[in-house]
This record gives sequence, structure tokens and C-alpha cells, in this order.
Amino acid sequence: MAKTLIVGSDHAGLDLKRELSGVAAEFGYEVVDIGTHSTDSTDYPDYAHQVASAVARGEGLGLLVCGTGVGMSMAANRHPGVRAALCGDVFSASMTRQHNDANVLCIGSRVVGGGLAAEILKAFLNANFEGGRHERRVNKIDPSNEG
Ligand code: RB5
Repeated sequence: MAKTLIVGSDHAGLDLKRELSGVAAEFGYEVVDIGTHSTDSTDYPDYAHQVASAVARGEGLGLLVCGTGVGMSMAANRHPGVRAALCGDVFSASMTRQHNDANVLCIGSRVVGGGLAAEILKAFLNANFEGGRHERRVNKIDPSNEG
């Protein structure tokens, strides 16, 4: 089955999202870009919710880019089943897949340069969830699973 990466950004993340979409395609991912498609000022939650909904439906992994990545991660993490990780370094990007089973990567276009962002995305896509003890911990992230 083709691997799918659902990508979204606001205006601030548009250029970096396009660069990273090319990286994902080189990695064999089918890239689904839900917008934005222009540099007109827009609202990041609109895109975070669309990508998070698709990820929650099991349609693929997600990538969200805004100026800091913070707003995107806040909005995406409101969706049950979505574990969005804001990453500014390669180690965290790999570990959040391995230990947190992260399914959405958030990146700040005004925080990290294109070269580092590409390495962060590659690390995220290359890593796999380790399961085991981490599965128990991941289940505890959702407070409704507690008690
Ligand atoms: C847009 O100016 C900026 O607020 C947005 O891209 C993002 O950084 C929000 O978290």
C-alpha cells in the first residue's frame, strides 16, 4: 500500500511545506496537500483540523507547517487519536515516532531552516514505533484511558 503524507500549512509555512513535500515524494510518499495554496494571510487551525481529521481516519501520517509550528500542534492535538509532535531537531523527530507513536509532525518555518527541516522530516519518516512498554504509555496520553 502506498504510504501517504497529508500536508498542510498556513501562509507562513507555505514555502517550507512545498519543499518538504518534495522530500516526502522522494521517500516514496504520496503527498496530499490540503492547503493553503497561496501566500494570502490565513488561519492555521483551519489546516491543522483538516490534516488531523484525515490522520485520525487513518489516511496517513501528517505534516503541518506554520511560523512556529506551535499553533498547528495545539490545534492538531485536540483530535482524539492524533499525536502531533513539534520538532526542531532530528533526534526528537526520530524518538517521537519510536516512543510516542507520533502521527503528525509539526515544524516552524520561522524557527528552522530548510536543510534542517528536511532532515527532521526524513528522521520522522524513517523511524517506527517500538511498541512494548511505550504502547502502555502512549495509551495513557489520552486522559479518558486513565483509571
Ligand atoms: C502567523 O503569523 C503565525 O502566527 C502562525 O504561522 C503560527 O506561527 C502560529 O502558531
